[in-house]
Amino acid sequence: MNNNAMTPVITIDGPTASGKGTIATQVAQKLGWQILDSGALYRLTALVVTRQEINEDDMAAVAQAARQLDVRFVDGCCLLASEDVTQALRAEEIGLLASKIAAYPAVRDALLARQRDFRQGAGLIADGRDMGTVVFPDAPLKIFLVADVQSRAQRRYKQLIDKGVSANLSDLLADLQARDLRDSSRAVAPLKAAPDAYTIDSSALSIDDTVAQVLQYWANLQN
Ligand code: DC
Repeated sequence: MNNNAMTPVITIDGPTASGKGTIATQVAQKLGWQILDSGALYRLTALVVTRQEINEDDMAAVAQAARQLDVRFVDGCCLLASEDVTQALRAEEIGLLASKIAAYPAVRDALLARQRDFRQGAGLIADGRDMGTVVFPDAPLKIFLVADVQSRAQRRYKQLIDKGVSANLSDLLADLQARDLRDSSRAVAPLKAAPDAYTIDSSALSIDDTVAQVLQYWANLQN
């Protein structure tokens, strides 16, 4: 793949369950752009570590797994060596392990070029934690999407119940708080807004309103 610096990028960073994935998907559809779900790459690494029983405390071994990921994204599905692992990636324990190994500098390094390779075609919506600060610092539009932790826990709870998965709201809240703390306090590429990012608080905004706000920022840049 060729990384094309001419391809515009909109970065959407923010904490777990802030709605980044949904907003990124809808903005990408409206603009006809590609999407990078960078969290999926960390989750995939966590899945491989679990399945291959790699020692999760061994940074070099985990980074090797990240470098060797055989992954393709096809029609919103994530294929690991041709197996559809889209659902498996969403498991809470995979998210927690992803958050742990995402703090390893060697893992972040192993995934950097792979993420930049998504920059091609008409445009890219890049969803993650460090898209605007580290991976695409020259992106013309950067969004930092936040929502209070209670709203995020409620959303995650509803998603799981709708899928028929049993869930406990106070456990979800505790998980989110643990992940927020780890993602924002790690030494390398912590979750934080780029200085030139627009912060949108979606706690009280609908999905449509949030998408409209991002598209408005983009339209403003074109004038
Ligand atoms: O967005 P997500 O919940 O799928 O991400 C899973 C974990 O991966 C998250 O807890 C932190 C990490 N992550 C990261 O460190 N940097 C990114 N750009 C994306 C995700």
